[in-house]
Amino acid sequence: MKTVICPGSFDPVTNGHLDIIQRASGLFDRVIVLLAANQEKKNYFTPEERREMICKVTRDLPNVEVDVFSGLLVDYVREQGACAIIKGLRAVSDFEYEFQMALTNHKLYPHCETIFFTPSPRNMYLSSSIVRQVGGLGGDISGFVPACILDEIREKLRKK
Ligand code: PNS
Repeated sequence: MKTVICPGSFDPVTNGHLDIIQRASGLFDRVIVLLAANQEKKNYFTPEERREMICKVTRDLPNVEVDVFSGLLVDYVREQGACAIIKGLRAVSDFEYEFQMALTNHKLYPHCETIFFTPSPRNMYLSSSIVRQVGGLGGDISGFVPACILDEIREKLRKK
């Protein structure tokens, strides 16, 4: 059974994330969407809010699980017997950071491959921070996040 991990901050999960998760779920037996800690970021949504939103948007994908982990990603990969980390690579601006993480993870745990998915063209520009910025200023984010979590994201951003 081929297990892969889709890690991220998901603050909040976007249509771009969901596209990558859906495509991974079509290629692998088991996909774990992992809410992991990014030390460089201060998150806006709580881990529980982010986990619940990911669960909602992936509920129709039977081979997708959601988990939360605060340690080193490669330790989780090893524990799960996963063969790869899946990440979306949107643009050249993502490359340096993602390349560094992939090489570090491979050095720490050589059995761990990182597979980069190109985003669908419609999601090339999309990021969680764009959702937070546009939504926080009252803009229309309905094209950026799945419909089933739109209201809760709007409400939370409005309260900011
Ligand atoms: O969505 P993000 O913020 O780009 O995801 C980054 C994330 C969470 C995947 C990365 O920070 C991570 O792997 N965190 C877990 C801790 C870890 O293993 N850090 C070393 C990575 S080289």
